[in-house]
Amino acid sequence: MTQTTKAVRTIYWEGGLDGACRLIEQTRLPGTLEEIVCETPEQMWDAIKRLAVRGAPAIGVAAGFGTVLGIRSSRATDADGFLADLRRTTEYLATSRPTAVNLFWGLDRMSRVAAEAVAAGTTDVDELKTCMLDEAQRIWEEDREICRALGRHGSALLNEGEGALTHCNAGGLATADYGTALAVFFSAQEAGKTFRVFADETRPLNQGSRLTSWELFQRGIDVTLICDNMAGQVMKEGRIDKVFVGSDRVAANGDAANKIGTYSVSILAKAHGIPFYVVAPTSTFDMKTAHGDQIPIEQRDPDEIRRGYSGGLNAPEGVKVYNPAFDVTPHENIAGIVTEFGVIENPDTEAVKKHFMEHGLLTDEG
Ligand code: MRU
Repeated sequence: MTQTTKAVRTIYWEGGLDGACRLIEQTRLPGTLEEIVCETPEQMWDAIKRLAVRGAPAIGVAAGFGTVLGIRSSRATDADGFLADLRRTTEYLATSRPTAVNLFWGLDRMSRVAAEAVAAGTTDVDELKTCMLDEAQRIWEEDREICRALGRHGSALLNEGEGALTHCNAGGLATADYGTALAVFFSAQEAGKTFRVFADETRPLNQGSRLTSWELFQRGIDVTLICDNMAGQVMKEGRIDKVFVGSDRVAANGDAANKIGTYSVSILAKAHGIPFYVVAPTSTFDMKTAHGDQIPIEQRDPDEIRRGYSGGLNAPEGVKVYNPAFDVTPHENIAGIVTEFGVIENPDTEAVKKHFMEHGLLTDEG
């Protein structure tokens, strides 16, 4: 594979209400860059479950388009029937993956907009369907803008000549475009800064090697791939000045769930006095969950560890496997959470609440 400047178009809707959602089949990267087409909610559910589309914000976008795929064939003749079909679709899509809160955020947003349209007097079912497509497109467009803002705020934390470490993939492939943690590097590059990135491989599904090193390499960013168990050594050698990761769900106290292995990286960073930053849009915050230990952690197929994507055996067939897909980094290990509005330094319940209130996302009533 050689470096290219090919634009990454992770997920998008093509056509009108009778169109389809197209997305990059991420399980085949980096060897094959191809799109798949989702025309039914079942296909979208499967794409989310298999990680064809993955990464919290991209899953939020998939929730919007998946909802459109579910309700566009609704035979309802009135608003109540439409809302019932909508509820069936969102409840179904909500069963695809449990940890990334953006899935539920996206589904709730679609439901709320439909309910508001009905309350405002829209009873025509075709109009309601169009309103759903418009909203899904808005989620997609907003995500693109939010990621640029994350990049702007995050890149201010990365100084000229520094080395950074990242875990999993929080790039353009994990969002509608540009990324969260990787947006920091894209934005720093655009600002003319020189820096180095170390990318953890991210076992068992290798999002770091397959996706992050691919995205950074394509853009000509100085990226070095390491196995997950090398992070401590690279820190000890003094090569890492900052850690930037994404998140699947940030609890109200700032604890942040992210790809398995992130917690270990946060402890290594703390032991070496290296600031550890989480980069996540406010749609990734779950203000109803007080602490990180209440975040549901997805358990995935044991064969991901026994075989991985390569299909060949890594371990004896049938050996017992434990495969949590995420872990939670306690807020005490996080120097700051970068959102589209700025940086929440030393995040805790008070700091997160203050940030949300300052930006009109929370009122005194909650
Ligand atoms: O299982 P995945 O590949 O969906 O996990 C993705 C991550 O853990 C990302 O770091 C997270 O979703 C943030 S993406 C901007």
